[in-house]
Amino acid sequence: MRSLVLTGGTTPRQMYGLLAGMPVEWGRVTLLFGDERCVPPNDPESNYRMAREALLSRVDAGAVLRIPGELGAEAAAAIYDAAVGRMQPLDLVLLGIGEDGHCASLFPGHPALSATGWAVAVHDAPKPPPDRVSLTLGCLRNARRVIFLVTGAGKADAFRKAQAGEVPAGMIPGAEWIADREAAS
Ligand code: 6PG
Repeated sequence: MRSLVLTGGTTPRQMYGLLAGMPVEWGRVTLLFGDERCVPPNDPESNYRMAREALLSRVDAGAVLRIPGELGAEAAAAIYDAAVGRMQPLDLVLLGIGEDGHCASLFPGHPALSATGWAVAVHDAPKPPPDRVSLTLGCLRNARRVIFLVTGAGKADAFRKAQAGEVPAGMIPGAEWIADREAAS
């Protein structure tokens, strides 16, 4: 595995802690992000900050491709698009799912869902903060392997809709799902 894409949110934090202790040749791995909020990297809302605390500070990754969200969505998306374009196809993408069925920062009915290229600027996201950068659906579909992590009864409806292909998290053919009993109920 050369490239591992980390998901944001709260679900993966514990899993990142376990991952940090696994025998991975981290020096050969480039760590990337499925999405990022347009906040500074030390902001409590930053996906990079969560990953740094739970994983990046504990492994010596070959490279970390941080999304510079603090530059604003358009500038950060342009920079990240070029970097991710040089990494295609991504080897392993980890994703979470929101209660509305979004994944990364691709929300139901949002124009960013139909973006081309590898990364897209997202405005007016229904989940705050409103300005984000996300990998595109095409980029996620191009990955060699995609694994969703889903926990809790609050995700059961979204999980069901994803299995029916009704929400963005259900639009990645071949994606694998790791769901706890509550989410899969
Ligand atoms: C984000 C995440 C987002 C997340 C889901 C689930 O930046 O908000 O990337 O896609 O994975 O919203 O979040 P939780 O794990 O906190 O439920």
